Amino acid sequence: MEAELQQLRKAALVEIQNAKTPSELDQLRVSFLGRAGALTKLSEGMRNVPKADRPVVGKLLNEVRQLIAASLEERGRSLQAASDLEGLENLDETLPATEARTGALHPLTLLQDRAIQILRRLGFALADGPDIETEWFCFDALNTPANHPARKESDTFYLPDGRLLRTHTSSVQIRTMIMAVPPVRVIGPGAAYRRDEIDATHLSQFNQLEGLYVDRVVSVADLKGTLTFFVRELLGPKAETRIRPHFFPFTEPSFEVDVRLPNVNHGRWMELLGCGMVDPAVFDQVNARRGDRAYDPEVWSGFAFGMGLDRLAMALFGLPDIRLLIENDQRFLAQFAE
Ligand code: PHE
Repeated sequence: MEAELQQLRKAALVEIQNAKTPSELDQLRVSFLGRAGALTKLSEGMRNVPKADRPVVGKLLNEVRQLIAASLEERGRSLQAASDLEGLENLDETLPATEARTGALHPLTLLQDRAIQILRRLGFALADGPDIETEWFCFDALNTPANHPARKESDTFYLPDGRLLRTHTSSVQIRTMIMAVPPVRVIGPGAAYRRDEIDATHLSQFNQLEGLYVDRVVSVADLKGTLTFFVRELLGPKAETRIRPHFFPFTEPSFEVDVRLPNVNHGRWMELLGCGMVDPAVFDQVNARRGDRAYDPEVWSGFAFGMGLDRLAMALFGLPDIRLLIENDQRFLAQFAE
């Protein structure tokens, strides 16, 4: 049996070396190592080997099996390498490449970036604040009375610990003033949350852009001039603005700014933002928290504004449904790729 094994080993190695294709190699694997293969058949002869010789013959059997397996594998690898090389030789580098699919910015991001760029040119720096806020930053510091409807559970998402999802980005005004001494000129873009029923014009999460300007002598004229310039830069020379009196707890006086564009929103006025002169009561809250008089209302004045981006995007891009902005439908988004 030993002699037979040696012979099989020799024959197998030669045949494997001569195999020309992977399928030939597969056939050899079956014929040597398969269940009905030569080696399996030989190993059945173990029964007739005298007990004393069995360990030696058994060891040889294993060695031959391993040798054949290793040789099959090695030949397989070199056949593969050869066919890879052949493939490379036939490669035509002049064929057009498969088109690379690049991403594009979301329409809201495009709009937000444009707004930021304009305000940066006016000297506004980016500011930030957390989406999860305390009642103090979102309401108290902004002079919002305890019974104000915006604070109701039915309007605002509260966390079990009493914190909330900010209902506007105006909390960034407060965060900024706690951290920095005047003069300040910041914009804070970000998400805001309200417990609205979701439909074609409402989402429970939307996007705002907050602005705050505090300096020594800031007037309503500065507010109006800044916002009129901003609107014209953002929406073009055909955009008209209109400023109306309004009320916010944290600005006095307060206004709303509407815009009108020939082919947008059927040429009708649309509400763009809320704004006003920072209420001295807000400065008082900030000073109390800071423990100084950095925002002395006798010395400093300022204006603030808060703009909703989603409705504006709807109007500018002619979107029939606000939900298009969050559904991530490629057919919709691809239209904004540049
Ligand atoms: N926070 C107000 C809103 O969400 C907008 C606003 C911001 C008004 C700043 C005045 C000043 O409606």
